[in-house]
Formats: sequence, structure tokens, C-alpha cells
Amino acid sequence: MSHPVIEEAPAAHGDALNLLRAEIAEASDPAEAAQRAVEVLHDRFPHYDWLGIYWVDGADLVLGPWVGPEATEHTRIPIGTGICGAAAASGQTEIIADVDADPRYLACFASTKSEIVVPIFAGGRVVGEIDIDGSDANAFDETDARFLEEVAALLAPLRPRA
Ligand code: SME
Repeated sequence: MSHPVIEEAPAAHGDALNLLRAEIAEASDPAEAAQRAVEVLHDRFPHYDWLGIYWVDGADLVLGPWVGPEATEHTRIPIGTGICGAAAASGQTEIIADVDADPRYLACFASTKSEIVVPIFAGGRVVGEIDIDGSDANAFDETDARFLEEVAALLAPLRPRA
């Protein structure tokens, strides 16, 4: 489905960051806070069709909270595999306008046309990432990337600890 650009004006980003801070503060534990965060992002931004957090576990990414129309079979992804694994290996945000044109892409949903993956850092290391699939081609831009990098900083303290 198409979504008018006006809905995603950066003013909405400031509002969402404030709501995320409040939801995280009110949650009873880090896992609940992370779950609330994915729900806020999915509710507020219609082009975030499927949204999940992967946490680093050794040499893998393990799926944490997610929200979207279907579950993914990719619940554990080796770092270095897929778009998700590439972003975790490099620490760089990946914006993929057309997933079918990227040989690294690991398909999860037939509806996905574009994807953004934003690393979550703690102590200078990648500890997780935000992965969002869009059902429109070219659904994500640099304003999404900058916004989600701020969100990632709020999520970092919520990572599961051994
Ligand atoms: N497409 C991702 C895999 C995760 S699913 O999108 C949820 C990738 O290429 O790494």
C-alpha cells in the first residue's frame, strides 16, 4: 500500500521519540520496554510494515520483539549473512530501495519490497539492530535512518544481558 510522505514528516519523529522515552520508562522490565517500543514504531509509521529487533548473541543475531503481519522464519541469522548480518558486521545503517536487486537479501515475506536495518550500539560495539521491511519499493530514506539511529540509542540499554 502507498503512504503519503506528509505522514512521515520529521515532526512526527520528535513526537515518537518522546512517546518511546515515556513507554520505556513506564515498562516493568527491559523486555517489556523493547516490546512496547516496536509497537509504538509500528503504530506511528504506516510504512514500517514489519518491524523487529535482533540482538547479538555470540556470532549470531537472535530475533527479539517484533510486530507485523506474519512471523519470520529467520529468528537466528549469522552475523555477515543477509542485509541484517551485513549491518551488524559493518555497523553501518543499510537502506535497501529494492530488495530483489540486492544479492545479500534473505527473503522473509513475499510482500517485502524494501528494507532498512539500523545497528544498535553499546560501548562502541554492535549489540543489536532494528530491522524494518516495507511493502513499497524505496519506502525508507535518510530521515528514517537518522530517526531510527536515535531510537537505537534508546534501545541499547534494553538488550538482554547474560
Ligand atoms: N531480510 C533480512 C532478514 C530478516 S527478515 O527481513 C525479518 C535480511 O536480508 O537479512
